[in-house]
Order: sequence, then structure tokens, then C-alpha cells
Amino acid sequence: MGELVMAAAMSHAPGIAAFTERATEEERAGFLGAAAELRQVLADAKPDLLVFLAPDHFTNFFVDKMPAFCIGVNEAYQGPVEKWLRIEKGKVNGAPDFATQLLEEAMDSGFDPAFSRGLQLEHSVMVPMNLIRPERDLPIVWVMANCQIPPMPSLKRCYQFGEVLRKVIDGRNERVAVIGTGGLSHSPGAAEAYDLDPEFDQEFLALLDSDNPKAILDIPASRLDRAGFGTWEVRLWAIALGATKGRPARTLSYAPIKAWQTGCAVSVFR
Ligand SMILES: [Fe+2]
Repeated sequence: MGELVMAAAMSHAPGIAAFTERATEEERAGFLGAAAELRQVLADAKPDLLVFLAPDHFTNFFVDKMPAFCIGVNEAYQGPVEKWLRIEKGKVNGAPDFATQLLEEAMDSGFDPAFSRGLQLEHSVMVPMNLIRPERDLPIVWVMANCQIPPMPSLKRCYQFGEVLRKVIDGRNERVAVIGTGGLSHSPGAAEAYDLDPEFDQEFLALLDSDNPKAILDIPASRLDRAGFGTWEVRLWAIALGATKGRPARTLSYAPIKAWQTGCAVSVFR
């Protein structure tokens, strides 16, 4: 029987890789130290497969076509596409059999996700991968949720998608790790890019670590808007939460890192 051997969520701000040194020593030690801890947790879990829950920043989709969800059924992925990211471009194997079953299960469960055999990787997957599995030796499945252009799937809907993912994991025979990437508060590229919202971030993480993390699903969309449009990416955390069936998390680090223009956190589900 398959097993969810680890679930975690973390920020993927491009500055983490592209201009690491702009953060203070303390900020770097906090976030990168927590990422190193997560790398060890992941290694100890001995997964066969990594499922990345990550948005797409107009690399594969744009305003002319934007699915609510897209499942990568790639045989292999290439990336990152960003030459300035300071992460070496290369190939990562996909897991089309798992991805196809997820697609079929989603369709049987009231979802109609898009699918693609040609998703190209970008910082949303490669920044976390570079920190927690730099060997790139495991096959991956990229599950994309629209966090770029309203209207977007609700947090509740994302949680339900995570439940579908869990059903597929439980019904197969791999050891699977799930990584939600995105957020927390930020407004990349905007005039207010350096105005983070640590109050939101801390409230969000406190709920995630609480006895009732599903209370996150009641956060109004307007509150995400106020924390900055990059905060829309907490949808990926909601999918990871759904995959755990609502388990509380343990936050390994958090800091509003202005140099990386993002409230940066690493959390692992208990
Ligand atoms: Fe992002």
C-alpha cells in the first residue's frame, strides 16, 4: 500500500537563490537552516516520488489560457527556465503513471483539471528542489494551481484537491512526499514589494500549527489580498494540508525577509 511519508510547505521566492546574499546573515541562517533540516527529514523519509504543489508564474500559462489546476504528466521536465536564478538548468524525471492516475481520480471526484506533457520548470519548483533535494534523483509530479489571475480556486477547493491526491497516494504502492510551495505575504515586482505583512504570516502559521489547522480554509480571500497578491500562493499550502487530512504542522522557521521580498517560512506537517 502506498504511503504519504512526508508533507511540508515552504516559500519559493526567487531571491532565495538569485540574490541570497542580500538577506542578513541571521535571515539566511534561519531560512536556509530550516530548509537543510527539511532536506534531512525528506531523506530520512526515503520517498520514491516527490509531488510538488506549486504555482506557475506565466512560464507555462498566461492570460490567454489559465487552468484552475494543471497536472504535469511529463515523462521528464526541464528547468529552471530563468537563466538569472543561479540554479543550473537540467532534466528531472516525471512520473506520468502516478500523474495520470491523479488526473483520473480528480475527474472521478468532481474536478476537471488541465494536464500537460510539456510543463517547463521554473523557480516555484526549482528553488525548493535545490534546497531539499539538490540531487534531483527522484521522479516528480508538478501539480499547478492558479495563484496568478483571479478568479482562483478557493482554499476549501484546494484542500479538497489535496484529499484527492491523498486518496491516490494511499491506493498505490510508492512512498510519496508532498511539498507545497509559495507565499507567504509578498507582492513581487510591485511598488509595495518591500511591504510584507508579518501579522498575516504569523496568524497563518499559528493556525497551521494549531489543533485545528483547517481553520485556515475560512480565511477570507480579502485578507489574502491585503497581505499582497503573492499571498494568493498559500493555496498550495491548503492542498498540502488536504493531503495530510488536516494534520497540524510544525513551523521550522519564519521571517519577513525584505531583501527577498517575501515572508519566508518552512513548515513540516506532523
Ligand atoms: Fe511565487
